Amino acid sequence: MKTKNTTSFDVEEFVRKSIEEIKKKSGNEKVIAACSGGVDSTVAAMLAKMALGEKLKAVFIDDNFRREGEPERVVKILGKLGFDVRLINARRKFMKALKGVSDAEKKRKIFRKTFYETISQIMKKEKAKFLIQGTIAADIIETKKGIKTQHNVLEQIGIKTKKTYSFEVLEPLKNLFKPQVREVARYLKLPREISERMPFPGPGLLIRIIGEISEEKLEILRKATKIVEEEFASEDFFQVFAAILPGKATGIIDEKKKLGYIIGVRVVKSEDAITATVPEIPYEKLRKISRRITNEIKSVARVLFDITDKPPATIEYE
Ligand code: XMP
Repeated sequence: MKTKNTTSFDVEEFVRKSIEEIKKKSGNEKVIAACSGGVDSTVAAMLAKMALGEKLKAVFIDDNFRREGEPERVVKILGKLGFDVRLINARRKFMKALKGVSDAEKKRKIFRKTFYETISQIMKKEKAKFLIQGTIAADIIETKKGIKTQHNVLEQIGIKTKKTYSFEVLEPLKNLFKPQVREVARYLKLPREISERMPFPGPGLLIRIIGEISEEKLEILRKATKIVEEEFASEDFFQVFAAILPGKATGIIDEKKKLGYIIGVRVVKSEDAITATVPEIPYEKLRKISRRITNEIKSVARVLFDITDKPPATIEYE
């Protein structure tokens, strides 16, 4: 089933086989689903809930790198979908682990380690032996190619979770690409806000701040992200987001010359995130975004719009 071609994909059979396999592999053990509210992790968790019922518990880890209000919003949606879900506040743990780190790959690796250590503690407490996660084919391909370390790719690069963290991972979507995952989500009648949800990287805002993170930068990025998402809310682009670029630029802040942050705005069209193109955006829209960001976030001096396709760029900045 390793194909990008959605026409040959039998969604009904996929759901039936996945449920059977989750039941078989997990035996009678308790299973935890790591949920982010994205389409991949929600579909994986839903398949597990259909297979295991009450034996499936969902957790949302608040690492401090989610969008404004996102942890509460996602937990509410999952609750409405019938999940037994817990919100775990691990903000301090992640901030401490990432303090002073600026290299992108190091950030990703520390994120992965902190994420799985947090999960591992929860699993031990819950006496759960299996973790369901929404890893998809594109995550594995890009990690194996060495383009970047996707935080949820473990076994495929030789990290034995049983040995390292004392649990096993179940990845029902590992052979699917995004369009197929969305097809499964629609088939399972998940709400549109899940099935059509814009991809958001596992390490979230962590990888949209180039270099070292801080509470101040995270606060700025949450606000900029909200503005960009609001401005493109009625559009159907694959991803729209803001990032904090390295360094500062001169600006006039509170009527004084002052160095301010540089925000990059990225909008891409794509099918599967393997390639992407930048659509033409009306100039007036770009000016509005720039004005809103600099007016609403005083410490930002510049807003840049990125016109680079993938390849040669990647979608994210790190
Ligand atoms: P790139 O930047 O490689 O992104 O063109 C391709 C797709 O993957 C998402 N992405 C990530 N997702 N962990 C994730 O879970 C990551 O470390 C990561 N890096 C990129 C990105 O948003 C895009 O959809």
